[in-house]
Amino acid sequence: MSTDPLSAGTPSCLPRHVAIIMDGNGRWAQAQGLSRSQGHRAGALAVREIVTYCRKIGLRHLTLYAFSNENWNRPQAEISALFTLLLDFLKSELPRMLREGIALKVFGDVDGLPLPVRTALKMAIKRTEQGRDMALNLALNYGARQEILRATRSMLAEGLSPEDVTEERFASHLYSAGQPDPDFIIRTSGEQRLSNFLLFQCAYAELYFTPRAWPDFTPACMEEALADYARRQRRFGKTQEQIDAGNSTVSGSEQK
Ligand code: IPE
Ligand code: IPE
Ligand code: MG
Repeated sequence: MSTDPLSAGTPSCLPRHVAIIMDGNGRWAQAQGLSRSQGHRAGALAVREIVTYCRKIGLRHLTLYAFSNENWNRPQAEISALFTLLLDFLKSELPRMLREGIALKVFGDVDGLPLPVRTALKMAIKRTEQGRDMALNLALNYGARQEILRATRSMLAEGLSPEDVTEERFASHLYSAGQPDPDFIIRTSGEQRLSNFLLFQCAYAELYFTPRAWPDFTPACMEEALADYARRQRRFGKTQEQIDAGNSTVSGSEQK
């Protein structure tokens, strides 16, 4: 996980990897008498702004939770609106991703998505795979428990023996293989839960909850969240005295 070339040169107090649970589009829309789909449209605009901002400040890994396995339980019209927005996003943002060195990746089951979405995603992933400046991971048709089961099955299929199943080996079978664990999880809209997001990778992530709905989450809000992260002291199980003495050997704790 630490051999990732995308992680080189990150400023010390900026997280290497931020993951966002973009929640509250529906309530935001309802509060203004709009449809849920209109809320998602406003949410898509916020995505563009946050990606632009994160690229500008030099964040190397950004993961956005866009559609969970459980979101298939939503009304069909809302699901269709979400996928239409995703197709628009891929079409309009591809030139920018190519220009700005952004590599698009998907965390989730791409093959379980509708054909046009699957095709557009595979094309965008292929075209941007040389992007070296930022990994933009869209969690789509994603669930952390399903991801963990998938990794387990794939290790069993490889015939690994129990002693070969290490944390590193396990991580290399997850969608996030090759990327550092998220340092910072942001959830908008007031809910304080993970909703089946990155359960293995979040072991030591710092959590940040804001009452703002996702469509109102501006780059200034992101800046505020990152300032909060920069003030935190991550300990990774050590005592404060050990950290103060600079006697840190746990990987990742030197981040700050
Ligand atoms: C987040 O907003 C977007 C997705 C889950 C796709 P919601 O649609 O969950 O908005 P609320 O939580 O109902 O307000
Ligand atoms: C989590 O939001 C999934 C995404 C942001 C895509 P939900 O709105 O689906 O989560 P719950 O149902 O409130 O936990
Ligand atoms: Mg929600």
